[in-house]
Amino acid sequence: MSGTFTTSTARNIFFGGTIFFALVFLALTFQNEQIIPQRDQRAQLAANPSIAAGKKVWENNQCIGCHTLFGEGAYFAPELGNVYKRRGPEFIKAWIAAQPTHTPGRRQMPQFNLTDKQLDDLVAFFKYVSEINTNNWPPNIEG
Ligand code: HEC
Repeated sequence: MSGTFTTSTARNIFFGGTIFFALVFLALTFQNEQIIPQRDQRAQLAANPSIAAGKKVWENNQCIGCHTLFGEGAYFAPELGNVYKRRGPEFIKAWIAAQPTHTPGRRQMPQFNLTDKQLDDLVAFFKYVSEINTNNWPPNIEG
């Protein structure tokens, strides 16, 4: 064994491996550079101030204290990163306005007394987050 594994074999493995993985690294960097512009949503953010306003409504009312966004947050209530696609804008606004449901045996969501403008902003925010490519995360769509 020690007879076949010579110094030059070790050197070849070292240089061969270094070159191979440097090329893999370059290829992955190149691929990343192709994907990033496709996923860049900054233009959308700049064009629609409702999205940032909706994020403020989301933050100021501590929605994350019960819900998750992309799997991050609390596990008391459903995932909302994809709620725009699951439910659509009208359901979301009607739902928030109709809380609490007082349905026996179901967890309750408080009434936040949001204005129509705040509801529209929230919907713009939910639409924006629903279009972010998360590679299908979280795997369980209702969280
Ligand atoms: C005290 C906990 C709590 C807070 C805070 C809360 N929610 Fe909820 N929310 C719930 C619960 C529980 C449900 C599910 C109720 C059910 O299914 O009967 C829910 C459901 C929803 C749904 C429907 C989800 C679906 O999949 O159908 C939306 C939309 C929603 N919440 C938005 C919000 C927004 C926006 C905020 C912040 C303004 C917020 N929630 C804050 C508890 C909360």
